[in-house]
Amino acid sequence: MFKYEEPTLGRKQDAIDYVNELKEYNSGINGVSGLDKYLDNYEDWLEKIEKDKNAPVTEETVPKRVYFLVRCEDNKIVGMCAIRLKLNEKYMYYGRNIGYSIRPTERGKGYNKINLYLALKECKKYGIEKALLDVDSNNAASWRTMEALGGHMDLEMESELEGHFKVRFYSIDVEKSLKEYGSIYEPMIEK
Ligand SMILES: CC(C)(COP(=O)(O)OP(=O)(O)OC[C@H]1O[C@@H](n2cnc3c(N)ncnc32)[C@H](O)[C@@H]1OP(=O)(O)O)[C@@H](O)C(=O)NCCC(=O)NCCS
Repeated sequence: MFKYEEPTLGRKQDAIDYVNELKEYNSGINGVSGLDKYLDNYEDWLEKIEKDKNAPVTEETVPKRVYFLVRCEDNKIVGMCAIRLKLNEKYMYYGRNIGYSIRPTERGKGYNKINLYLALKECKKYGIEKALLDVDSNNAASWRTMEALGGHMDLEMESELEGHFKVRFYSIDVEKSLKEYGSIYEPMIEK
């Protein structure tokens, strides 16, 4: 069973360990809402994410929430997810609504599909009808997660960022996805 948990002081060491594991494996660091820059000051990060919840939409800021994906049987943080509740122009093209990661030692077990399902449930709660995501075309584990939850690829194009890789833009009809995949994922979610 799995659940989303909002970050608290009690999870300080677990959260730091999570980010350190991403770093140790040279993993992409996604869905952590900047925690990688606050490893020496978790308390400040908690303050930051609290403010983020109600941040105004400006050129630089949007409201955002972050969650730990917890495996209930051993109470372990196996993933993280950050959800931007609204988008500005900058995030419309980079980052979009949902960012996520699974800890490297727990990958390939279907956990990110549960992570995205739970994220879509949060989207519904906050009135997001169509969730927008972006992904490097070479990150198959990520775009396959999106497609496994009914994601539609709207566009693939050369990234404007350095490196000349391709990026894909996906959208997910939140209500439709929750309906279609609920029978698979609801039994895995702690009520
Ligand atoms: C992307 C990431 C979250 C995937 O997590 P995961 O728990 O391993 O993913 P899952 O096990 O739920 O698998 C999701 C889908 O990807 C596929 N997949 C998993 N690992 C894969 C790999 N290494 N290569 C290709 N496909 C892979 C799975 O088969 C599944 O697809 P399917 O349902 O069609 O079979 C994880 O690799 C990660 O944290 N990466 C670093 C951060 C990142 O890139 N975040 C996304 C930014 S857009």
